[in-house]
Amino acid sequence: MQTVTLPRPDDWHVHLRDGAILKAVLPYTARAFGRAIIMPNLRPPVTTAAMVAEYRSAIMEVLPEGMSFTPLMTLYLTDATDPDDLKKGFTEGIVTAAKLYPANATTNSELGVTKIKNIASVLETMQQIGMPLLVHGEVTDPYVDIFDREAVFIDKILTPLRKDFPDLRIVFEHITTSEAVDYITAEGLDGKLAATITPHHLHINRNALFQGGIRPHYYCLPVAKREKHRLALVKAATSGEKMFFLGTDTAPHTRQAKESVCGCAGIFSAPSALELYLQIFDEAKCLEKFEAFASRNGPDFYRLPANEEWVVYEKTSKEFNEIKPILTENGEILSFMASAPITWRLVNT
Ligand code: DOR
Ligand code: ZN
Repeated sequence: MQTVTLPRPDDWHVHLRDGAILKAVLPYTARAFGRAIIMPNLRPPVTTAAMVAEYRSAIMEVLPEGMSFTPLMTLYLTDATDPDDLKKGFTEGIVTAAKLYPANATTNSELGVTKIKNIASVLETMQQIGMPLLVHGEVTDPYVDIFDREAVFIDKILTPLRKDFPDLRIVFEHITTSEAVDYITAEGLDGKLAATITPHHLHINRNALFQGGIRPHYYCLPVAKREKHRLALVKAATSGEKMFFLGTDTAPHTRQAKESVCGCAGIFSAPSALELYLQIFDEAKCLEKFEAFASRNGPDFYRLPANEEWVVYEKTSKEFNEIKPILTENGEILSFMASAPITWRLVNT
């Protein structure tokens, strides 16, 4: 029997939503992860420290008894973010990081930032206080091909931004391209730049979106890219290098919202995300690097200790584990690769 023993992992990029969906999905994240960075793109978005505190309370209120889980909260940047409010939220320990959505880049990003110069004083403050900036790294110019938006973001937005704010600590979220891997590998050595990698971008390439027809449940943003990019992501994640860490970007939408004339972007992976990552590391014969990716590199970047609790995952003989749709008042939510054979299992829950 093969086992992996590691400090309880954390998820550095999660969408929990609110209301009935929050209640339905939270136990899946809390089962596997000690802490998670909670995305602020609700409707309306979480744009002030007071709203962040309120959202945190709403999460803790529906955490099932007996589960221990710490949400690390983020604030949604807009053109009008008040640097003093952000600073107060950070120094009081309410806000862990701020999220930059370029306006209209993705789900609920309409109120995002229209021009980096509009948040210059916010970035200046964040640089001073050492607060991480979490970036959705895609340009929104409709003339840029959707498959090129991440690579263009690096040249047009991220590179100049880092030149203007050289000490700003940045996480390039859910990277999908070899260009991003190369950029982070070269620039992340000083510990100020890192990237999260999702389980879906490690498992699928863009063919999955069109396999025998259009597959809305494989649609997310940034959209999956060519196989060569998937392979670059696998290499980066399984390297164990400190600048790459786990962030599922689990993003629940109801089946109705996904299977629509204009289906929402987002892949819900919480029920099996950890196991799906393990599968990738196992196939790459890099299981010894999993602890760095899942339990060490993220806390190190966020200047937090690794979790004290240790967990054990074991490899089972291949079995077919159907993950059932999750029923909520708003509709059902389907899990990523729900019918795939899961070979890994958490032993001590
Ligand atoms: O696919 C995505 N879904 N990408 C994002 O950036 C947002 C997320 C969501 O909130 O559904
Ligand atoms: Zn996300």
